[in-house]
Amino acid sequence: MRRKLVVGNWKMHGSRAANAELLSALLKARPFGGDVAVCVPAVFLNETAATLAGSDLRWGGQDCSAHEQGAYTGEISATMLAEAGCRYVIVGHSERRAYHREDDALVAAKAQAALARGVTPIVCVGETLAQREAGDTEAVVKRQLSVVIHQLAHCASEIVVAYEPVWAIGTGLTATPEQAQAVHHVLRAQLQAATGHGERMKILYGGSVKADNAATLFGQPDIDGGLIGGAALKAADFIAICRAAG
Ligand code: 13P
Repeated sequence: MRRKLVVGNWKMHGSRAANAELLSALLKARPFGGDVAVCVPAVFLNETAATLAGSDLRWGGQDCSAHEQGAYTGEISATMLAEAGCRYVIVGHSERRAYHREDDALVAAKAQAALARGVTPIVCVGETLAQREAGDTEAVVKRQLSVVIHQLAHCASEIVVAYEPVWAIGTGLTATPEQAQAVHHVLRAQLQAATGHGERMKILYGGSVKADNAATLFGQPDIDGGLIGGAALKAADFIAICRAAG
């Protein structure tokens, strides 16, 4: 039985006051039935670590550099994330792919850098609306994942995968549980064929997960939890989603 995982992706939101309120509500709401983590803007990592240290809540970054160190202004290395106590880092989010032109090879290199430092990469894959309408969903997500699997070789079973259809992110349009399950099933078969460990790997769903649709999504056989954007910013909503995974 795979343990569920719910990860809040705060994106570029938060403030010291708002974070303190949100994290203290999360701490009070424990224990949850599954694992829970928050991926926060890098400047908030140290205070998040200080607040959550000693609890069963985990934290992580939203991106990392593929490089170990060097003259890369504005970048954050996996080593730095590890030093800040990060359990996870999101790589290949569709917003990074779209606004920062990250391609599959770069995403794979970032995943490798994270794993090398003991930080679990949450590798995002997902199709655009045009790709779905063209019937290319499976081909797109399989290609995105295959580049990462190839790069990581025998370590590929250490990643978490997040299926995030681009058309469902921040739009209020959620994939139906059946649509999401169908893609998760394909991804798990791909992971199983490539690593032999697909049955124990986590595949999260992301894209307009809310308190009222989380339980049905998480009830699908191949959906192991969620990567939550907007609804991760309000304590009551995020707590309800975490409980739906329990
Ligand atoms: P929303 O939950 O706001 O749709 O965002 C999903 C997401 O991009 C999480 O990484």
